[in-house]
Amino acid sequence: MQLKDSADRYGTVSRALHWGMALLIAWQFATAIARVLAKDSALDEFLWATHKPLGALLMLLVLVRGLWSLANAGHRPRSLSLMARLGHLAMYALIVVVPLLALLRQYGSGRAFSPFGVPLMGGFDGEIKGLMAPANLLHGWLGWLLLVLIVGHIVMTIVHRRRPNDEDVLARMIGNR
Ligand code: HEM
Ligand code: HEM
Repeated sequence: MQLKDSADRYGTVSRALHWGMALLIAWQFATAIARVLAKDSALDEFLWATHKPLGALLMLLVLVRGLWSLANAGHRPRSLSLMARLGHLAMYALIVVVPLLALLRQYGSGRAFSPFGVPLMGGFDGEIKGLMAPANLLHGWLGWLLLVLIVGHIVMTIVHRRRPNDEDVLARMIGNR
């Protein structure tokens, strides 16, 4: 088992973070899609109850992932192109900004917030409108933009795997090379 990354493959920790977060993000978007397509249905109520706590967990995980990627800087697989590099950076930026804006809004609302029973915000009387406005304006839209980038990311992974002269990047994130 190779814990750290190397030039030709991601190590176990990066892979666990990548695939674990991919699963949680897929769930997170399922909650948002159910909200849009089937608002107030039993499915929406079940899924939406998980949106805030899971979003808070993702916020924590992306911080861990960012630190781990810094610790591995200089010995990770190289991006295939500038576009790939920028795409990965944009996804990182959005997985930070999207939950961060929502958490600021949650704080500003003055309502207590205890994701998975952990008392993260105690709540207070009144609200701080300046903390709520950015998420009201941007949280949903930036969330959907992230989904678009993720779909592009998955499509490009498949393209690189199928094109005969391209490097198969999936092999760096999965399997044992
Ligand atoms: C990576 C994490 C997150 C993603 C990808 C995400 C994604 C989304 C998306 C796409 C929507 C739009 C749904 C629609 O169009 O109706 C949405 C709405 C919402 N999210 Fe999140 N979310 C995340 C984290 C959070 C967190 C941490 C909170 C609160 C603590 C939160 C609270 C809300 C609320 C209240 C709404 C409905 C109001 C609005 O559209 O801004 N989300 N989220
Ligand atoms: C669901 C959300 C996903 C997000 C946010 C995401 C994000 C990222 C990011 C930021 C990287 C750069 C490496 C790192 O710093 O971790 C990466 C690498 C990679 N991802 Fe994803 N990913 C997602 C899902 C997927 C899926 C479903 C696939 C497979 C089809 C996939 C395949 C890959 C591959 C092959 C690499 C390595 C690319 C390379 O070495 O250039 N990802 N991903």
